[in-house]
Amino acid sequence: MNSLQDKVALITGAGRGIGRAISKKLAQRGMSIAINDIDLELAQSAAREIEQIGRPAIAIPASVSDVNQVSAMFERVERELGPLWLLVNNAGVLTTGPTVSLPEEAWDRAFDVDAKGVFLCSQAAIRAMLPRKRGRIINIASIAGLIVRTGQIGYCAAKAATIHFTRCLAVELAPDGITVNCICPGMTWTEMLSKSAVERGLDLDAMVALIPAGHMAQEEDHANLVGYFASEEAAHVTGQVVAVDGAQSLYHPLMVKP
Ligand SMILES: NC(=O)c1ccc[n+]([C@@H]2O[C@H](COP(=O)([O-])OP(=O)(O)OC[C@H]3O[C@@H](n4cnc5c(N)ncnc54)[C@H](O)[C@@H]3O)[C@@H](O)[C@H]2O)c1
Repeated sequence: MNSLQDKVALITGAGRGIGRAISKKLAQRGMSIAINDIDLELAQSAAREIEQIGRPAIAIPASVSDVNQVSAMFERVERELGPLWLLVNNAGVLTTGPTVSLPEEAWDRAFDVDAKGVFLCSQAAIRAMLPRKRGRIINIASIAGLIVRTGQIGYCAAKAATIHFTRCLAVELAPDGITVNCICPGMTWTEMLSKSAVERGLDLDAMVALIPAGHMAQEEDHANLVGYFASEEAAHVTGQVVAVDGAQSLYHPLMVKP
């Protein structure tokens, strides 16, 4: 039986990339989908794609780091789609530069979206879920929160914050039937990575050579794990942090490959 049929999901930053793929996968599993993105056009085009799958979808333009916009967003989801079952905190921004010259705004932007946005949306979700004693929160962090990525200090620190936030919240909410889990994607070819590769002149072949699986992740690899964490079958799985990275976060170049 498909335990996600007709349940409601809100995915942040879902106008493109990994969030959009997650939304499609959940719609294919029968969920009704609220697509959030700071970019209205992206959100609308993703919502249209969900409707083509045959599931209800709404597009909600809002910044996850603005408490008033977040509160209005959750009210709209419950009013238009029904009781929220799943929040996927996917919205993220990558800020880069050496620490010595990193502008304060770059640090703040990473923490505003990648960490505070996760807190604000989770808080709003919990307020809706707690009286019902059921629900799922899934945070999309990054292996940058597990291993060192040079030139991304704000991003790495914010993603590490999200990873530990996941564990703390999982313990707090375990008695209330709400699970909280975290996915750490490895390199995945989306606009975030392609823009950063161009701006920073990254040698992608050299980076892919550091992935034992020999290739980057596909957006669907993350979406598949979201589908599991969201399901009734995963009811006793909480506080877990899972890298979807082809073993990239475990491998060091000084290791001898088998
Ligand atoms: N692509 C990768 O290699 C990779 C690796 C590790 C982790 N991640 C994480 O996966 C998530 C999705 O990344 P992606 O690669 O799809 O990125 P992306 O840049 O392609 O998509 C991110 C989306 O978030 C939206 N967004 C940005 N700020 C927002 C805000 N304040 N409020 C609402 N929406 C906002 C953007 O408009 C965009 O549509 C991010 O959290 C990212 O950090 C990505």
